[in-house]
Amino acid sequence: MNNIIYLDSAASALKSESVIAAECDFLRHNYANAGRGICARASNVDDMVANARERVARFINARPDQIVFTSGTTDGMNRIVHIINDCVCGTGIKNKTVMVSDLDHHSARLPFELLYDSDLCKIVLCPMDDKYNLMCSDLPCADVFVITAMSNVMGMAQDVAGLIAAARKKNPDVITVVDAAQYVVHNEIDVQKWDCDFMCFSAHKIGADTGLGIMYMKNPERWVSPDKFGGGMISKITGSAVEHNVMFQWESAPAKFEAGTLPLTQIIGLPAAIDYLSANRPNLDLIKYLYDRLSKNPRIKIITPRDATLLTFYVDGMHILDFGALVGARGLCLRVGNMCASWIHRALGVAGTARISVGSMNTMNDVMRAADIIESVVK
Ligand SMILES: Cc1ncc(COP(=O)(O)O)c(C=O)c1O
Repeated sequence: MNNIIYLDSAASALKSESVIAAECDFLRHNYANAGRGICARASNVDDMVANARERVARFINARPDQIVFTSGTTDGMNRIVHIINDCVCGTGIKNKTVMVSDLDHHSARLPFELLYDSDLCKIVLCPMDDKYNLMCSDLPCADVFVITAMSNVMGMAQDVAGLIAAARKKNPDVITVVDAAQYVVHNEIDVQKWDCDFMCFSAHKIGADTGLGIMYMKNPERWVSPDKFGGGMISKITGSAVEHNVMFQWESAPAKFEAGTLPLTQIIGLPAAIDYLSANRPNLDLIKYLYDRLSKNPRIKIITPRDATLLTFYVDGMHILDFGALVGARGLCLRVGNMCASWIHRALGVAGTARISVGSMNTMNDVMRAADIIESVVK
């Protein structure tokens, strides 16, 4: 496996030694649960979790109480639907208009589309220009706006602040939800500049571990009902459900939204991942190199612009899964298929594509070898 060329960081990033060391150290020497014990071990873990939350908050220019740990972007987007909908009263989204776009990953759009299917809300589309970027002009009026800050197929940063400002002109109360799963890898995020209500990303794509995500909430106390219930999120219960007079008092945010034991090992590796990524953003000259070299091959049809953060293409006369299998057999790891982004593939008029993405650890040598392999398969 040592000859593998890993060019699939947009699916999941490789881990730095610092992340692995932080997690191993925790598991070997410091392990305990958080938020439950008062012994020295347990309060040390509480401090480590608080430190990770502060590090994330600084990373996106937020306050620690606005940071909720989830299990990933998918989890965050699904949870936001329920939080907005007020899972206790279930009235929040009824008869509302939700704006999504063809750039969305299934994780961002399906949770809302399924509500649409059940006739709870209406779905409208954010317009795109001829380069598949979201347009700030001619936005339909919406109550909820789901924005993919960077598509995992097109790899271009969207004007999130402009889109939010434009949507607010149509409806000052619009709730804005940003999927930053790809954007966060390549760009600094400032949630205050975006002025979004919610934002999600996955830890594993920024070089931390799987099973952890971040959900930013601008006004955590605005959302009266949490969407998950269990240990650690409740401060007081009075009365009894048997007697129909039960009353719950939730903890304040973020604990209110973090029922149950958190993915502690992953959280403790997170600050190291943020430090590593901040100092070693992926080198996008590698993508430009591949663009310049592969665009010379008439059978390779590149879909993404030269300055995208990834390279998406298809091969004339070859099924994309055959292409993936052939380069894979030669040691090249890339992604083929619809990338869980059916709508943009439909808009592009192709069933599937191949995607090359680079991470912090990739070098020019990796992409030169990758181009050799691709050229040997596509003659
Ligand atoms: C833009 C985008 N949104 C959401 C997701 C879902 O992320 P996860 O599978 O980590 O929940 C991905 C993953 O590929 C993505 O690229």
